[in-house]
Amino acid sequence: MPAKILISRTIPPEAIALARAGATVDLHPGPQPLPKPELVARLRDKEGLICLITDTIDAEVLQGAPRLKVVSNVAVGYNNIDVAAATARGIVVTNTPDVLTETTADFAWALLMAAARRLVEADQYVRAGKFTQWEMMLLIGADAHGKTLGILGFGRIGRAMARRARGFGMRILYNDALRADPATERELGAMFVDKATLLKESDFVTLHTPLLPDTRHLIGAAELKMMKRTAFLINAARGPIVNEAQLVEALREGRIAGAGLDVYEDEPKVHPGLLSLPNVVLAPHIASASHDTRIKMGTLAVENCLAVLAGKRPPTPVNLEVPQKKQGPARPSAARPAARGGRAAPRRGRPPRSGPPRKHR
Ligand SMILES: NC(=O)c1ccc[n+]([C@@H]2O[C@H](COP(=O)([O-])OP(=O)(O)OC[C@H]3O[C@@H](n4cnc5c(N)ncnc54)[C@H](O)[C@@H]3O)[C@@H](O)[C@H]2O)c1
Repeated sequence: MPAKILISRTIPPEAIALARAGATVDLHPGPQPLPKPELVARLRDKEGLICLITDTIDAEVLQGAPRLKVVSNVAVGYNNIDVAAATARGIVVTNTPDVLTETTADFAWALLMAAARRLVEADQYVRAGKFTQWEMMLLIGADAHGKTLGILGFGRIGRAMARRARGFGMRILYNDALRADPATERELGAMFVDKATLLKESDFVTLHTPLLPDTRHLIGAAELKMMKRTAFLINAARGPIVNEAQLVEALREGRIAGAGLDVYEDEPKVHPGLLSLPNVVLAPHIASASHDTRIKMGTLAVENCLAVLAGKRPPTPVNLEVPQKKQGPARPSAARPAARGGRAAPRRGRPPRSGPPRKHR
C-alpha cells in the first residue's frame, strides 16, 4: 500500500508528478492556505506532509496527525514549524537548502541595485509620460560599485551575496554567530566585524540570518540609527528580523537612504507607511521564485518526504535526532544542525547568539 501524503498547496507539476509516482497524494490546489481545522482533518490519515511557509505546523497540528512521519517544508527557512514538537513526536522535519541559494542572492542583489539606482521610481516616471527630455540631475541614485557591503548572516545566501559583491569591487564586511574559516574569508575577501561596526561602516546592509528568537528585531531603531544616512537596508530573509514600524520611521526621517524588502513582519500585510515611501523597493516574498528553482525546491521536498516514508535518510533533514533514532546513525559528512537554519551549530538545541564568534567554521 503506497503511503498517504498531503501536499498543502500547489507546488510545481513536476514535483506533484514525482509525489504521485511514490505515494497516494491528497493535494489542496487552492490559492489560500488550508484553514487549521481542515489541515488537521486532512492530516489525520497521512504519513507525510509537504507544506509551505504559509502553513503553521505547530504542536496542535502535529498532535492531530497520529500517523505522520515527516513534515517536508518547501523552503530553506522553517520558522513556520515547531521543530521541537515534531522531534518529540519522532517526526522528521526537512527543508530545501542549497537549491535556492543563488536565485535568492540574485534577487537580493536586484533589490539592492533597484533601491540604489531608483529603478522603480524611474519606471513609474516613464510610464507616467514624464520623460520629455534628458536631464542631468534626474533621478540621481547611489553607486554600488566600490562601496561597502555589510552582510548580517554569513551562511549560504550571505556568502553568495559576497561573491556578487566581489564583482562590484566592494569592500565586504560580515557578522555571523560563527566566524567563517580563514580560507573562506580570504576567498570571498570578507572581513568579520562586530554588528555595530558593520552597521556604522556599510553603505548597504543585507540580512541573511534565519528567523530565530535572537534574530527577531535584530534591526530596530538603535541599529538603524547606527547606519549611515546614505545607507540602504536590504531584507530578503524574514520580515520579523526587522522592526518594520521603526524602519518606516527611520526612512521617513531620512535616517537611512532607502530599503529593498522582499519580506514583511506580518505577511502578507505590509506596513502602510512603507507603501507611500518612494525610497523603498517592495516585492511580495519572491526571492527564490525563478522557474528552475521552484521546480528544484518542490522536487527536493518530495524526495525528502518519500525518503523518510521509505525508511531512508532524507537528503536534507532539519532535526537529525529523529533519523538517528528511527533510521540508524546519521552520516557525519552530511550532518546539519537541528535548530538554526541549516549551518554548523556549536551545540545542538542551543540557538546561537550574535556577538563575538565562538570559533571558526
Ligand atoms: N525571501 C525568500 O524568499 C528567502 C529565500 C531563501 C531563504 N530565505 C531566508 O534566508 C535565510 C538564510 O538562508 P541560508 O540558506 O543562507 O541559511 P544558512 O543557515 O546557510 O545561513 C544563515 C546564517 O545566519 C547565521 N546566524 C544565525 N543566527 C545569527 C545571529 N543571531 N547573528 C548573526 N548571524 C546569525 C548562521 O550562523 C548562518 O551562518 C533562511 O533561513 C530563510 O529564512 C528567504
